[in-house]
Amino acid sequence: MARRSKINLVKGMKDILPDEQNYWNLIKEKVDKIAYNYGFSRLDTPLVEYTDLFKRSIGEETDIVNKEMYSFTTKGGNKLSLRPESTASIVRSYIEHGMLNLPQPVKLYYFGQQFRHDKPQKGRYRQFWQFGFEALGDNDPIIDAQLIAISYFILQELGLDIEIQINSIGDEESRKKYLKVLKQYYNLQKNKLCAACQKRLVKNTLRLLDCKNYKCQELTEEAPQILDYLNEESRDNFMMVLEYLDELDIVYNLNTKIVRGLDYYNKTAWEIGEKGQGGKLLAFGGGGRYDGLASLLGGRETPAVGFAIGVERVIMALHKNKIEIPKIEKPDIYVAQLGSEARKEALKLFEYLRKEDFKAIENMSKKGLRDQLDIAHRKGVKYTLILGQKEINDNTVLIRDMESGVQEIIDINKVKKEIEKRLVKSVTKSIILKTKKKKKIVKKKTKKKKKIVKKKTKKKKK
Ligand code: HAM
Repeated sequence: MARRSKINLVKGMKDILPDEQNYWNLIKEKVDKIAYNYGFSRLDTPLVEYTDLFKRSIGEETDIVNKEMYSFTTKGGNKLSLRPESTASIVRSYIEHGMLNLPQPVKLYYFGQQFRHDKPQKGRYRQFWQFGFEALGDNDPIIDAQLIAISYFILQELGLDIEIQINSIGDEESRKKYLKVLKQYYNLQKNKLCAACQKRLVKNTLRLLDCKNYKCQELTEEAPQILDYLNEESRDNFMMVLEYLDELDIVYNLNTKIVRGLDYYNKTAWEIGEKGQGGKLLAFGGGGRYDGLASLLGGRETPAVGFAIGVERVIMALHKNKIEIPKIEKPDIYVAQLGSEARKEALKLFEYLRKEDFKAIENMSKKGLRDQLDIAHRKGVKYTLILGQKEINDNTVLIRDMESGVQEIIDINKVKKEIEKRLVKSVTKSIILKTKKKKKIVKKKTKKKKKIVKKKTKKKKK
């Protein structure tokens, strides 16, 4: 058949190759474990939702909704979008399934793909993964602090050097007061603002604070700060969040420019990441309170707070910081076969071992023994079981110790017992070896110490 042209990966998308899977597994395991400890249950929502869900929650004037959504109309005329984030879907699901009738707060978490048609670059994809935690139905600031702590502990326990930047954007009353003075401030210097900010000034003034244009940033340096405009309730609330963080020894930096790129936030807002060039935060994630979102989506007023972290960004940081992560566990047993009859028996033997929970692997399509032993070596198995015509006739199987090369004949009916016996032995052997190694190191160290002490006492005597 004629060779056709090659079809490549879609721009902005990424394959997660087998070699990288241990990074993903590690993060998934950490997320599941901390979710279990803090009482969060997993909720998976669909990749596709009504476009209105995101328009209403994230905000029509935001970059995400305005420029970055993958939206389409179905044959039936429904306007749908691939989700650009999961908070809106979680709140939709909370309302739709009557979760407000459950004991509050309802604590939910997720781990899934998001889609944003942004300009692809390092660490920025059009399909990317986030894990996120959301607590709905409680306005106690201790919940804010716990969510910040969870975002911090997950990343810190992965070995990353983490920084938190935190702000309060106050409740509606505080923000109204603040936005009035902020608008006045920027209006006086409107001609110095970039084109996008001149537009934002009318519809989304708060977002001027995190514009990346250096001229806008210069103006922002002198801009009024939200913390000076918080009413008593918002200020007390923020102070309590900070106090709880202090109790947990979580270091944070106040940054009054953190306003987040989504419209649903109020009160606490934070970003989490590592320090980049010039002290700028390279964000892995962010979150905040969103007490008004449930009622915006047709539900009862429900206080809520949450965060999401980008998985690709975390993995990039693990690579960059050369953080060693556990390798995928090596298998114990390889099943090799020689000849057509043996192959049929090997199929059954392998299935038996798998069901008995042995870490066994195979390559039934290979015919030569050397090939199979090579694979067994490469995979690092401890023992290879070899089945040939002779073994079938005798109801036996050869077991080869891959380290010593010694082969023994065992009764096929006792294969489970024989493997178990050897595996236990090899575990004990490796423990003994490790303790011997440790003892040797301790001996060496004490010898060195003794030498130093001897030298010092000699010097003193002199
Ligand atoms: P966000 O700040 O839009 O918040 O996204 C959180 C994280 O997702 C970012 O810090 C980044 O690591 C990752 N991320 C965003 N866009 C991309 C991209 N194009 N490529 C790779 N990674 C990306 C939210 O999504 C909110 N839903 C967070 C939240 C949850 N707030 C309350 N609850």
